[in-house]
Amino acid sequence: MAEEKSQGAGTATEEASGENIVHITFLPEGKTVQFEHGKLPYEDHGKEESILDIALNYGIPLDHACGGNCACTTCHVWIKEGAENLSLMDDDEADRLDMAADLQLNSRLGCQVQITKPGKVVVEVPAWNRNYISEEHH
Ligand code: FES
Repeated sequence: MAEEKSQGAGTATEEASGENIVHITFLPEGKTVQFEHGKLPYEDHGKEESILDIALNYGIPLDHACGGNCACTTCHVWIKEGAENLSLMDDDEADRLDMAADLQLNSRLGCQVQITKPGKVVVEVPAWNRNYISEEHH
């Protein structure tokens, strides 16, 4: 007997993997990490799925003197690619960034900028924010 046809049963699994992946590369190290958008454990640093939170999840050094509260500029990064996959800047972030050294058009605060879509993002950590450099010298 023809019971139910189960056409379309495969569609749910297709979206579970593959297309929902965020790829983020941290320069100058060139370290790329990837994870499923919305599934990264929240490390409680800055906004959820922020560049800072992602970096800390993967052990990538990024300074965050105020703990991700938009109250310093040590998490300053430059977005080299993939700005369309990121949250828009709000006034608090813009005001704080105004005080950052080496401000560029693609500057963002790592703790405030969030991944909003899967896809590829490339960020550069400015030299003076790379904690591990000073750690090598003590
Ligand atoms: S960690 Fe202080 S503003 Fe981002």
